[in-house]
Amino acid sequence: MNKTAKILFLTHVGNLGGAEIKTISCARYFKNRCEFCTFDDGDIRPMLKQNDIAHEILEMPSGFKNFKRENNPLTALKTLPQALGFIWRLGKKCKNYDIVIPVSQKSFVFCALSKIIARKPIIWFMNDLLSPEHFNPKLIKFLLLLSRFSANHIIVNSEASLKAWLESGGTHNNVSVMYSGIDVNSFTAQIPDENALKTLKKNYAGENGKLIGLFGRISTWKGQDVFLKALARLPENVHGIIVGGAQFGEENYESELRKLAEELGVAQRVTFTGHINNVSALMAACDVVTHCSTSPEPFGRVIVEAMLAKTPIIASRAGGPEELISHEQDGYLYPIGNDKDLAEMIETCLSKHLGPDDILVQSAYDKAVEKFSDIQTDKTLLQIIENLSGTI
Ligand code: UDP
Ligand code: GLC
Repeated sequence: MNKTAKILFLTHVGNLGGAEIKTISCARYFKNRCEFCTFDDGDIRPMLKQNDIAHEILEMPSGFKNFKRENNPLTALKTLPQALGFIWRLGKKCKNYDIVIPVSQKSFVFCALSKIIARKPIIWFMNDLLSPEHFNPKLIKFLLLLSRFSANHIIVNSEASLKAWLESGGTHNNVSVMYSGIDVNSFTAQIPDENALKTLKKNYAGENGKLIGLFGRISTWKGQDVFLKALARLPENVHGIIVGGAQFGEENYESELRKLAEELGVAQRVTFTGHINNVSALMAACDVVTHCSTSPEPFGRVIVEAMLAKTPIIASRAGGPEELISHEQDGYLYPIGNDKDLAEMIETCLSKHLGPDDILVQSAYDKAVEKFSDIQTDKTLLQIIENLSGTI
């Protein structure tokens, strides 16, 4: 058995989404025998450097940058000639490794096509719900077909993602569920003391205000609009922070959200912080953290992080959050997209004055540590890699 298999992680983006943050955490575990190859440059570069993880950028042909998951894969055919050189270069790169792990859909497609050259086993990190809410149905079929020929193992990030995988025609063969674990110690170490948290909260909510947070990249399905609408239904002393950036080119949507805040009359009560590198202090400073995705969330790291920050969490009842939260035991679930119900739940939650010592908050923390820490994730991945290494 090859216990020191060299690993190449791949993503097509240059900025940080949850999948990339999780993969950096895994790469730290395999530090001396892995590299992260991205098809674009961005915030991920300093993060990898800081973590001492080898990194190379292999620029993806421009024609593929604009391809969206809602598109029919046939529309990408005309750009295929451009892609051949890239597939060749990627194949040569993969050849230097024992196992290749693509963590985004585009990197999986290119990695699968380059297997003809590389001939190395592929573990596909499927961080998405393969459902028509998220993908063009033809693209789902294409991804499934490609995986049959190329992926030696598929790792989905929740039972919900597994269900979507099976419903779209995937099989149980060589598929594992691996949650997107959080590094509990690093996350909680950055939470300051109570006084500092009070000051932080005051910066956003004033002397006696309440602070509600929404954390996550700015994207049309992450529900920042639902958050603003719920805020508009709440009393004047309730303030909001929207923490996250337009990581993957959705700057226009951010402008629309700012306009919506004006129209709803909440612009003075909401702060858009942009992307910040560590969210734990701000999460802990909030009275309530909300999750507002309007399409089922595949997993939802921000939910686990709120649990670790000991702030009550209210999330959309669909996909991963249903697995992460037991309603009224360690968090709250509301009907997806419903700003009225969300606002009511926020009010109820605020009226309970839930602090870090309350049983619901403590249960959430314990569950996050026990089930969703990176220790579990690393163990699962190591096992899969070892099993695979034994067969190559
Ligand atoms: N995040 C961050 N800075 C921000 C907003 C979010 O570092 O300003 C992190 C957040 O802490 C979480 C990740 O981005 O770890 C988002 O992961 P999630 O699974 O919630 O959503 P995804 O972006 O993967 O769809
Ligand atoms: C994806 C999903 C998110 C998940 C993350 C890590 O980006 O959108 O729900 O938590 O990957 O697996």
